[in-house]
Amino acid sequence: MNVPLFDLKPQYAALQPELEAAVLKVMRETRYILGPEVGELEAALVKFTGAKHAIACSSGSDALLLALMALDIGPGDEVICPTFTFFATAGAIARLGAQPVFVDIDPKTFNIDVAQIQVTPRTKAILPVHLFGQCADMDALLKLGVPVIEDAAQAIGAKYKGRHAGTMGAIGTFSFFPTKNLGGAGDGGALTTNDDKLAARLRTLRVHGSERRYYHDEVGMNGRLDTLQAAVLLVKLRHLDAWTVARQRNAAFYSDRLRAAVTTPWCHPDCTHIYNQYTIRSLHRDLLRAHLTKAGIGSEIYYPVPMHLQQCFRYLDHRAGDFPHAESAASEVLSLPIFPELHSTQLEYVAETIVRMNA
Ligand SMILES: Cc1ncc(COP(=O)(O)O)c(C=O)c1O
Repeated sequence: MNVPLFDLKPQYAALQPELEAAVLKVMRETRYILGPEVGELEAALVKFTGAKHAIACSSGSDALLLALMALDIGPGDEVICPTFTFFATAGAIARLGAQPVFVDIDPKTFNIDVAQIQVTPRTKAILPVHLFGQCADMDALLKLGVPVIEDAAQAIGAKYKGRHAGTMGAIGTFSFFPTKNLGGAGDGGALTTNDDKLAARLRTLRVHGSERRYYHDEVGMNGRLDTLQAAVLLVKLRHLDAWTVARQRNAAFYSDRLRAAVTTPWCHPDCTHIYNQYTIRSLHRDLLRAHLTKAGIGSEIYYPVPMHLQQCFRYLDHRAGDFPHAESAASEVLSLPIFPELHSTQLEYVAETIVRMNA
């Protein structure tokens, strides 16, 4: 049997008539840049998340850049973020000339360990990541008195004490990369905020800092979402809740079957995990992965190298051992197939293959 890590084809097959009609409509109407579907998607995201404003943009990476720009972050500023994350989190900070200040993770949730954060006069923002689809400890973060940008790229629909990921800090950022829980047919992203001024600034920054065409109040970027992507995402957003339930059901099945064999994900009682990734830990991770590959099962290591050990950040002078929990996670984690359309026979096969290896 073959079980890929992701398979986007069943989702496309299920929605094919709706998706193709939506795309064809945009093609025929030819309003490719900031056409009506972009505004409709923003309104739908406001409704879905409960945020006051949603601003669609070109990717989750660009959402991070725009959020940092809207908070005036630049050279001389420090932004705190976890060292165990996808590169875009730290890359956006460095790209604006600011300094990423890395913090270790809580080994149970993989999220930033708030107790280890040290705010200094140069700290301009904290950029927690709701990794794998579970929120960081937002109440503790908000108490630090520094603007918080939530990197909710992997966490659309996740909740913390009933509040939606991306709606608790100053700004939330999302990614619609095709393998995200809400994925487009290409790159895409969004920002959410409850602050009217920040929302207006983000909209301006998204179009080269221009409120009135060809008049530029500041330097922004081309960070717009294509109308075609908005049309695709509008169709898919209607199904997101059902897909989340399917992911949660798959996760519960694995956790039940795998608990004795490996360390299964731990969900904080305050959180609703949406399992963009189902990530286990094993001291024999590499052996396990090779065994899965041989059995035709896809898996991935998110992430093999924490940010403080990346070549591009060597100027920050970190060394191995600086953030032990992140480093252990990098050598033990393995993400398994969790996409909503997995069949029970596939789930059974993945669980059985892991259990058998550990027996
Ligand atoms: C935590 C995190 N932040 C940011 C991003 C960047 O999103 P995108 O790929 O849409 O640029 C991702 C996407 O993989 C991510 O996982």
